[in-house]
Amino acid sequence: MGRGSMDGDTQQTSGFIDIFNPAAEYRPYGPEIKEAVLSVLDSGGYILGEQVAQFEAELAAYLGVRHVVGVASGTDALLIALRASGVRRGDEVITTPFSFIATASSILRVGAKPVFADISLEDYNIDPHTVRACMSKRTKAIIPVHLYGHPAPMEDIKELANRYGLVVIEDAAQSLGAEVRGKKVGSLGHVAAFSFYPTKILGGFGDGGAIATDDHEIAEKAKALRDHGRTGKDEYSVLGYNSRLDEIQAAALRVKLRYVEQMVEKRRSVAQIYNQMLEGTSFAIPRESEGMRHVYGLYTVRCSSRERFAEFLQRNGVGYGIYYPRPIFDNSFFEKYPFFAGDCPRTRVACREVISLPMHSGLSAEEVGRVSEVLRKWSESET
Ligand SMILES: Cc1ncc(COP(=O)(O)O)c(C=O)c1O
Repeated sequence: MGRGSMDGDTQQTSGFIDIFNPAAEYRPYGPEIKEAVLSVLDSGGYILGEQVAQFEAELAAYLGVRHVVGVASGTDALLIALRASGVRRGDEVITTPFSFIATASSILRVGAKPVFADISLEDYNIDPHTVRACMSKRTKAIIPVHLYGHPAPMEDIKELANRYGLVVIEDAAQSLGAEVRGKKVGSLGHVAAFSFYPTKILGGFGDGGAIATDDHEIAEKAKALRDHGRTGKDEYSVLGYNSRLDEIQAAALRVKLRYVEQMVEKRRSVAQIYNQMLEGTSFAIPRESEGMRHVYGLYTVRCSSRERFAEFLQRNGVGYGIYYPRPIFDNSFFEKYPFFAGDCPRTRVACREVISLPMHSGLSAEEVGRVSEVLRKWSESET
């Protein structure tokens, strides 16, 4: 199995090429990660110790924010970010229906009402014009999602938020390392949520997440909320959760964080190769907007004959994924909750046509070559 360098790695593989491969992303750093994890085991300190504190400081430096608070998952990061920034029952929060369920379920979990604005088909992110049309006097916050690794249009969103006094909570679960004019996502709104789910850009070894913010008060609230609402040794002053990032997880993530730029550059170079194969075909390929850095958390194209293409990939040993087959509000449990969604026609097009190809930093040159060959065969069969 390849170890992930684009050049020089010519080892032969013949198996099915999965869309994700967390083990291949672990292997190059295996010895360092094992050493880091073993040292935590030996230390006897497993909860909220040195590793979490160091990881938080290192991730804050990487992102260019003042505070990072490690939590148990990206979902909890969203929930705690919402609570720490004062979103409550009765508030409305504008977000995209074209995302993972957790983006919107966290809004419901604080008792607020999700209001869904349509996306742009250029980058699959929330469209600021539709955000404006969704605003009411109850609107308290906007959650833009940096989907697939491409930043949401933060300049326009922040302009709206500043004008109407709204909180901006970035869902950066898929986009660690992405940038807008040289600034990292997660440093652009009031507060941000990251996920270290194993298939993410900075993939952990189990669940994990983090909140990033420049706001001291939000950070202090988040620290209390993740630890039962604790604000002193025996003092609990807010209804909190048990949502701590584990020491073992933090120790392993610290190792991977040192290599994250390399991993992102690898993803970008794979994307360039796929783009070259698909340029000039009927596919809509991912675009990087001017001034932005795409980190390809997923490599997603749009294809009007998705079912046939998916079958073709499968038959030729190439994995794929559909993110997302339906707008969030079409999931059945939403019937039981208050929400608002307009027509969202562009979201519906995306749900019908998107398909994601193998993308991770552990892809070998040989695997990228095989995927490219399958893409070439498909485009030839289409012309
Ligand atoms: C856009 C988005 N938001 C939130 C989450 C939730 O993160 P987690 O799985 O770590 O809870 C994910 C990923 O799973 C995601 O892709």
